[in-house]
Amino acid sequence: MTVKECKKVFSEVLKDIFPSTEIDTFFLFLVEEYLGFTRVDLVLKSDFIIDENTKNLFNKALKRLKNQEPIQYILGKTEFFGLPFLVDKNTLIPRPETEELVAWIIDEVKILNKKSSTKITLLDIGTGSGCIPISLAKNINFATISGIDISEKALKVALKNAELNQVSISFFEMDILKIADLCFLFEYNSKSNFDIIVSNPPYVRELEKKAMNKNVLENEPHQALFVSDENPLVFYEKIADLALLHLSKDGVLFFEINQYLGNQTVDILLNKGFKNVELRKDIFGNDRMIKATF
Ligand SMILES: C[S@@+](CC[C@H](N)C(=O)[O-])C[C@H]1O[C@@H](n2cnc3c(N)ncnc32)[C@H](O)[C@@H]1O
Repeated sequence: MTVKECKKVFSEVLKDIFPSTEIDTFFLFLVEEYLGFTRVDLVLKSDFIIDENTKNLFNKALKRLKNQEPIQYILGKTEFFGLPFLVDKNTLIPRPETEELVAWIIDEVKILNKKSSTKITLLDIGTGSGCIPISLAKNINFATISGIDISEKALKVALKNAELNQVSISFFEMDILKIADLCFLFEYNSKSNFDIIVSNPPYVRELEKKAMNKNVLENEPHQALFVSDENPLVFYEKIADLALLHLSKDGVLFFEINQYLGNQTVDILLNKGFKNVELRKDIFGNDRMIKATF
C-alpha cells in the first residue's frame, strides 16, 4: 500500500466522524511519527510503499481514531508551550488555555524578580503531565519548582517529561484535599514559603458532562476533570486556604477556572481575604484564569 492509498483509506473511514481538515492533520501527525515524513514529503513521496509493520501501525491508529480516541494518546505525546510532552490515559491532555495561564505567570515572575534577588519558589497543585511546572522551569531562571498530584501514574509521566525537557522539578504524590498544610514540602525548598502557587484543578461539574465531546468523556481521566455539582469549587477553597498559610509576602496565587464559575471563584478568594483578585478571559473570550494576592 502506498502513502497516497493509506491516506485515502483514512479519509473514507473517518469522513463521517471528523472534518476533512482534521483527518489530514491526524494523517500528517502519523506519517511524521511512523515514516519520519514532513508535510512536503507527504506530497513528494505519496507513492512511497508502506511496509507491513508500519501498515499495522497505521491500521491500529485508524481503529483508535474511529473510536474517537484523542490523537495525542495514540501518538503518546503532545506539544505544550512549544515543548514536547508525553501523555497517556492517566494524564489530562494539556490545553491551549493553560498555555495562557503559564504566559501570565512568566510575566508575573519578571515582576517578582525585580523585587527580590532570591530564588523564586513555585508550587503547582494537580500537576498531571507536569506541563505547567516544566514549561515554567524552561522559562524562568533560578526557581525551585515542585508539583503535587494525587495520581501516582500521572506523576510517573510528569517525571519522564521533566527528564525529556531537562529540568529539575520535585514531584509529590498527595491528596490535596486531605492535608492540613504544606510544611512537608519545605525540606525540599530553599525557602519556607512559596512565591507562586498555581493550580489547574478538576473543575468540570457532573451536569456539564452532557455537553462534552465523546473523545474527552471516554478517554481522559475523570479524576482530572470532574467535581460534584454540589461542591464544584472544593479545590479552590482548599488551595486558597493553603495559599493563605504558605504564600510569601509578595506571593501570588494563580488558578485556571471553570468558565461558568468565574464570579463565584473570585468571591471565594475575596471572602478569604485576598485583595487583588483579577479575573482574565482566554483567547476564546471565556472567563478562564485568576490571579490573586493579599
Ligand atoms: C485539570 S487536571 C490538570 C493537569 C495539568 N496541570 C494540566 O494543566 O494539564 C487536574 C489534576 O489534578 C489532579 N488531582 C485530582 N484530585 C486531586 C487531589 N485530591 N489532590 C491532588 N491532585 C489531584 C488530577 O490527577 C489531575 O492531574
